[in-house]
Amino acid sequence: RRVVKVGLLGLGTVGSGVVKMLRTKQEELAQKCGYEIEIQRILVRDLDKKRGVDVERSLLTRDVRDILDDPEVQIVIEVMGGESGTRDIVLESLLSGKHVITANKDLVALHGAQLHNAADSKNVELLYEAAVAGAIPIVRVLKQSFAADQVREVMGIVNGTTNFILSKMTQENASYEDALREAQALGYAEADPHADVSGLDAARKMAILASISMRQAVPLADVQLQGIEGVTQEDIAEAKALGLVIKLIGRARREGDAIEVSVSPMRLPDSHPLAQVNDCFNAVYVYADALGEAMLYGRGAGEMPTASAVVGDLLAVLRGRKFAAQQQVEWIGRLA
Ligand code: NDP
Ligand code: HSE
Repeated sequence: RRVVKVGLLGLGTVGSGVVKMLRTKQEELAQKCGYEIEIQRILVRDLDKKRGVDVERSLLTRDVRDILDDPEVQIVIEVMGGESGTRDIVLESLLSGKHVITANKDLVALHGAQLHNAADSKNVELLYEAAVAGAIPIVRVLKQSFAADQVREVMGIVNGTTNFILSKMTQENASYEDALREAQALGYAEADPHADVSGLDAARKMAILASISMRQAVPLADVQLQGIEGVTQEDIAEAKALGLVIKLIGRARREGDAIEVSVSPMRLPDSHPLAQVNDCFNAVYVYADALGEAMLYGRGAGEMPTASAVVGDLLAVLRGRKFAAQQQVEWIGRLA
């Protein structure tokens, strides 16, 4: 079998999950895509940090050039987070002909159009299924399965941390602070959890979902957002007494030519399907002209669910037309 070499940017919650999955499923993945997947180098900040997965020290590097300048690395997996520095790295990777998989919604919400243009100019893939709703395959479904339809509305719970906090406060009377600490310990929260609780993470995801489902770029700045920082245990108890549940809801609606996107805490009847979505789970409801209604549900955050979406994208690259075309060009080049 041929070997394909991957550069991994980041070895935190998601990066560790990706390494575990590539190792434990090595043979199965090779059978599915026809390639032995090998991790060539892993970019980290701290070479000496104790990690949730054992990796040979020689694989780790603090110098991104070890990945960007390595012609053997054909695919870059970006799971380090961050925005402007990461954009430069991803852009350079794409422009040098490397396929990129990222879990970074910050990056895609702000620079998606620029990155897509770069990928198209080099005929390489840019995939980011893990960036929205963790393990739920919503990006691919909206881009491909609903391509013939006109999506009118996308609504749902797209942040695992805030849903975990609200669920703990509702079901166990936990305090906001304790529930947030637990979400952090479980690896659900962003490096700066303010992005979760302020609604910004959900706003990034809704900007991405609105743009791809309604086929019109929706800038992050146009998303109206309110987080859960102001939600108190009294608010939750009051809602409960009325048979209501508080959830952080993202909503994107086509209104004539305009697209309205918002994120805010809402009180839902406890019989509402989204009221039943608890823990770190996410759910996305889609309304489209021909399809009518559909809802997707699954784990929205965490090590292995997110890794599953990242590795799914990796297989999609390896089985795709663009990767095959690149291999053919290289093969012809070697013969010439
Ligand atoms: P972590 O903070 O756990 O891990 C980040 C990793 O990237 C660390 O290994 C860190 O190195 C490395 N890193 C960060 N910045 C730099 C830098 N400037 N140079 C070199 N290495 C760097 O984050 P997560 O794994 O939780 O998240 C990664 C990405 O995936 C984010 O974009 C996040 O939004 C997204 N995501 C996360 C999910 C989750 O459930 N956690 C779910 C879906 C998406 P070191 O370890 O040495 O500090
Ligand atoms: N912090 C994010 C969340 C990770 O809690 O949903 C998954 O995108």
